[in-house]
Amino acid sequence: MRFSTVSFNNNRLRIIDQRHLPQRLVYRECKDIRDAYYSIKRLAVRGAPLIGVFAAYALYAGVRGLKTKSAAAFISRLSDVASYLKSSRPTAVNLSWAVDRMILVAMRNSEKDVSKIKRLLLDEAIAIHDEDRLMCDSIGANGSRLIRSGDRILTHCNAGALATSGIGTALAIIYKAKRQRKILKVYADETRPLLQGARLTAWELKNSGIDVTLLCDNMAAVLMKQAKIDKVIVGADRIASNGDFANKIGTYALAVLAHAHRIPFYVAAPSSTFDMSLKDGTEIPIENRPPDEVRAFISRSTAPKGIKVFNPAFDVTPGRLVTAIITENGIFCKPYKTSLKRAIRH
Ligand code: MRU
Repeated sequence: MRFSTVSFNNNRLRIIDQRHLPQRLVYRECKDIRDAYYSIKRLAVRGAPLIGVFAAYALYAGVRGLKTKSAAAFISRLSDVASYLKSSRPTAVNLSWAVDRMILVAMRNSEKDVSKIKRLLLDEAIAIHDEDRLMCDSIGANGSRLIRSGDRILTHCNAGALATSGIGTALAIIYKAKRQRKILKVYADETRPLLQGARLTAWELKNSGIDVTLLCDNMAAVLMKQAKIDKVIVGADRIASNGDFANKIGTYALAVLAHAHRIPFYVAAPSSTFDMSLKDGTEIPIENRPPDEVRAFISRSTAPKGIKVFNPAFDVTPGRLVTAIITENGIFCKPYKTSLKRAIRH
């Protein structure tokens, strides 16, 4: 990729502010923990894996300046900052997964000097970042085995390089298949209301020389009926132990459509997106977003002022509609209650 979604060098936390895409590629330095919180909440940084990597660095950056020499006081403040960051968005489990990993490092080393704990926290954030890149590569390698040259693939939202610190999850499969010289055609749902498909997926695929066609979310059924889609591949924000998963609103509708048209439906996600503590998808917290995201469109009103709005950011797709889940540890099929135990190594 010719861009870096997140970086932490010389104690500077830098991101691409994805709200400016596709018009401009804007890098922005994150000033403090409040800025980090709002960067996640307002989707400057988005995509489940990327939120996790970013939050790990933001947490370190948010506590590295603390003056206390007491490890207990340091860890107490660290936990407060962690809770604050975790409250920014509820659905993508990668956020709490990364932040909890950081807390655990501090707790396990609570007998050490605060300066040493700080160093270990930075090392952990770097490890989370490195692992994310490797997970993307492995998901791409594993998933590309399912792709045949000539495949026409439909994707939803953005599960690409912009949603991770590597080459993406769902789109990693496409990038790897392209490197294997397979000829592909990708259809990208625009993904209302915030247009991650149009603004981000179309942008990154086009810039990578992939044949991509943009469609409105309500057009997928027609393409499927016309036998123009061979596979659907999406990312995930949280996968429960039975294979039910949350992803961008509209994913469930696609899964139902794929099932009705007998089209394979794949989910691509790293193990950091699994929440094995959840029995099923009913336990996944779904974020509701501000009504104005639906009432107005690129600063122009498209609905009556004050109209009531339904705007969940995610929906839950039952595992029974998922042909396979592609992770860095392999490809897993039904019954997910047993197969997913092997998908998780953390
Ligand atoms: O609201 P967003 O843009 O953060 O939603 C992102 C998605 O739903 C992605 O499809 C998901 O995080 C998978 S990212 C690899």
